[in-house]
Amino acid sequence: MPDSRGAEPPDTTDLDRLRSAASGCHGCALYQDATQTVFGEGTPEAKILVVGEQPGDKEDLAGEPFVGPAGKLLDRAFEEAGFDRRSLYVTNAVKHFKFKRDERGKRRIHQKPGRTEVVACRPWLLAELRAVRPDLVLLLGATAAQSLLGPKFRLTAHRGEPVDAPDDVADLVPSAVATVHPSAVLRAPDRDEAYAAFVADLKAAGKTLK
Ligand code: URA
Repeated sequence: MPDSRGAEPPDTTDLDRLRSAASGCHGCALYQDATQTVFGEGTPEAKILVVGEQPGDKEDLAGEPFVGPAGKLLDRAFEEAGFDRRSLYVTNAVKHFKFKRDERGKRRIHQKPGRTEVVACRPWLLAELRAVRPDLVLLLGATAAQSLLGPKFRLTAHRGEPVDAPDDVADLVPSAVATVHPSAVLRAPDRDEAYAAFVADLKAAGKTLK
């Protein structure tokens, strides 16, 4: 059962302390089945903070964000768009893997996090934003976008364009661009076209910094 243990981030901008505290978070039920908390990674000096949905199977085992197939695609797209991943801070809206088992109980199948999990995890994302103070927040997919921009935000209407953050997070999100999640590119019927549009969104996001 979720409980309040470790659910509140400590009042610090030290990412190592935040990571360590998040490892004991019981703020939603996902901690029970996941291997570990997958906290964000990257430099506290990052000008761009990237937010995904939640760790997948590979990330859950490795304890690092975006190291599986979606991460590989993301790395390639970052490179093509002129971003060096080492200069970024990369995290997720939800920091535990949510999954169900297949019928044979073997494979772990990704489940989209619900609003309760997104809301429970949001204080950690806000704590990361407070620690990094990025110039731009790049939101990958609707879960990430809605976590910061609110549940009414429609990615299809605003992808690739600068959007204003709501007042409650405006000081932490000076500028935001949302695009699709890299997994959606992997699943797209025309993957090349979806990939090109994704890279174009990343380039457009990068231009807002200059
Ligand atoms: N998908 C995400 O949203 N985040 C990860 O870390 C991996 C896959």
